[in-house]
Amino acid sequence: MSPDISLSNAEAVNETRRQHEYIEKAKGYVKKLSEELGRPLSFCVTTFGCQMNARDSEKLAGILEQIGYVEEADEKKADFVIYNTCTVRENANLRVYGRLGQLNRIKRENPHMMIALCGCMMQEPDVVEKIRKSYRFVDIVFGTHNIFKFAELIVSRFESGSMVVDIWKDTDQIVEDLPIERKYPFKSGVNIMFGCNNFCSYCIVPYVRGRERSREPQAIIDEIKNLVADGVVEVMLLGQNVNSYGKTLDNPMTFAELLREIEKIEGLERIRFMTSHPKDLSDELIEVMRTSKKICRHLHLPVQSGSSRILEKMNRRYTKEKYLELVEKIRKAVPDISLTTDIIVGFPGETEEDFEETLDVVRKVRYDSAFTFIYSKRTGTPAAAMVNQVPEDVVKNRFDRLLKEVQEISAEVCSVHEGSTQTVLVETINDHDSSLVTGRMSNNLLVHFPGGDSLIGKLVDVKLEECKGFYYLGRMV
Ligand code: SAH
Ligand code: SF4
Ligand code: F3S
Repeated sequence: MSPDISLSNAEAVNETRRQHEYIEKAKGYVKKLSEELGRPLSFCVTTFGCQMNARDSEKLAGILEQIGYVEEADEKKADFVIYNTCTVRENANLRVYGRLGQLNRIKRENPHMMIALCGCMMQEPDVVEKIRKSYRFVDIVFGTHNIFKFAELIVSRFESGSMVVDIWKDTDQIVEDLPIERKYPFKSGVNIMFGCNNFCSYCIVPYVRGRERSREPQAIIDEIKNLVADGVVEVMLLGQNVNSYGKTLDNPMTFAELLREIEKIEGLERIRFMTSHPKDLSDELIEVMRTSKKICRHLHLPVQSGSSRILEKMNRRYTKEKYLELVEKIRKAVPDISLTTDIIVGFPGETEEDFEETLDVVRKVRYDSAFTFIYSKRTGTPAAAMVNQVPEDVVKNRFDRLLKEVQEISAEVCSVHEGSTQTVLVETINDHDSSLVTGRMSNNLLVHFPGGDSLIGKLVDVKLEECKGFYYLGRMV
């Protein structure tokens, strides 16, 4: 649990109080059912999508544990299955429908099982209609703006016995001080803002996450202090566009200023953040990164396309040249920085020449890694209505060429650290070989090296002995 005592307004304080009452009420129902079954009730949350969703899932798990559910890794055995969904690309949606089909079969055998759907996909009215009509075995449906009401919705479901659907169109309410169950004891995501105002023409996020709103700096700092007191050494500051943090606050503050404040928190060792929009990345931020002892040497800077013509149609509000200038400026200030990116292939109207421009940026920047996506048409976004969508086979061919280029460069870029010694945060026991542990470097690369349980959560120095493409093998020094 990570209590956060600074609250933004009286309404939110009231809401927090109300929700704590629902948590108590839900506890009663869970206790009763668990006595009937003669065992504790279990839950399993599956997260689709980005880190914002992962953090939301920790909030859901926090509430569930408070009301008496215990976590169960195997969804087939769980009494309460929750899908926290993503809708950024079509295939994210298809996966959810596929898995719901399987859940239906399991639920027929365990009628007391509950299923909740939440997250970005549920903010789309068509999806909710389809769930109501064709997936009637689902118990609770809610969206991205009201996850703080989860306990209340569970109570409604227990009391009504039928499907509970509660979707908010948008909100500027930020409800603090609810339970959170962190996945890792030593690192944590921290929301600094919600929503997005950029409306990149291909992107559905602004429609499903609502308008941009920043948390009060004091609430963020108090949360991080509490996390540190609880053993956290690394935080990842989360927002769709962290570089525009603070613009909507009553007392505006820049992201760079926020970072300076967070840097002062004693006991906090590492700071990461994502995502940075190139159009808002300020000189002030570069200066803070240059002088910081805690900000990690990694910047995720999505380019999306290398063609200025396509960037304009994407409504990204920078050109190829501006992006490359920015990269140069960052590299000059922070020479050892690792850069990663997101790229979309096959945006409507993308020609071979446009695509070549993207390859050119990849070759010039030489990213440590890049997430490459095939353009996916999202109904309701401006790009979905654009004529000249690119044929599938052309897109596939470009995608393969891009991936090859990205991977070749990234293997070369990653190997430059061979022989050096780096401080790593040990995260887990290695999946394949339990005599090894896996640590993360400041630049986000992973290294596997001999070690045991007791190292997890510690910062240790490791010599990088052998590069294996995208990760290293090493030994502690
Ligand atoms: N706010 C972040 C991105 C969030 S979505 C930013 O602006 O960088 C994560 C990534 O998904 C985006 O960077 C983009 O590359 C990809 N994406 C978003 N919409 C998409 C679509 N319709 N088709 C394919 N990829 C998409
Ligand atoms: Fe989507 Fe653009 Fe907002 Fe990122 S900045 S979430 S890509 S609209
Ligand atoms: Fe997906 Fe929503 Fe994140 S659409 S990428 S989970 S903000």
